[in-house]
Amino acid sequence: MNIAIDGPAGAGKSTVARLVARELGYVYIDTGAMYRAVSLHMTRVCIRPDETDALSEEMKCLRIELRPEAERQFVFLNGEDVTDAIRTSEMSRLASLYAQVGVVREQLVEMQRQMAKRKGVVMDGRDIGTHVLPDAEMKWFITASVEERARRRYEEWKDKENASLEHFIQEIADRDRQDETREVSPLKQAEDAVLLDTTGMTIADVVRVIVDRAIIRK
Ligand code: CDP
Ligand code: CDP
Repeated sequence: MNIAIDGPAGAGKSTVARLVARELGYVYIDTGAMYRAVSLHMTRVCIRPDETDALSEEMKCLRIELRPEAERQFVFLNGEDVTDAIRTSEMSRLASLYAQVGVVREQLVEMQRQMAKRKGVVMDGRDIGTHVLPDAEMKWFITASVEERARRRYEEWKDKENASLEHFIQEIADRDRQDETREVSPLKQAEDAVLLDTTGMTIADVVRVIVDRAIIRK
């Protein structure tokens, strides 16, 4: 089966999805990494999110590859390893802007559907249960309070980026607003998704809940 995991930034989607995939022997697909890779490329070639025609043309020259390894997923952009380059606060902000553009979404969604065709994937993002894989056999919408999500991001980044907890609260709140209010495929819970508020839950707790439910369904 396919498992869709959606939710806002910092909810724990990628960490949990990767571990669930490992326990079930599934392939993990991080769709956020694809939007980040597009943003990195478009900023390098100086094409803004509002230049729709140029974006549409440039999308044709883009090759994004996800290579899952045991501990992390590597991301390649036209053959270059950009795994670390796409994980900055600036790329988070830009990804959310390029993700509002229809031509960008259409092409990435097509790639994501191809990747899930043979089943056995755990895919995380914002629109997986609602749009990319509406027929996924299991759908989760995982979330946590803004403060908790910002705290998690702060703990993760405090040694790498010189930013305060307040900075992350603001960044997460801004991104929630952008992702929830955009016209194309906004972030929202699919009607048939299970809601899981992970505030106060450890990563292991969340993984256990999802894996147990998946084993029953199999
Ligand atoms: O992918 P998403 O933005 O939803 O979140 P993530 O990158 O998987 O998780 C953000 C941070 O929160 C990571 O450092 C996780 O280790 C941490 N986390 C946590 O402390 N407790 C959870 N229940 C889930 C994630
Ligand atoms: O890890 P985090 O939750 O911070 O972000 P991400 O999953 O890497 O996604 C970065 C941005 O890409 C999000 O803020 C969304 O705007 C966008 N995105 C999307 O629109 N649709 C997806 N399926 C995945 C990501």
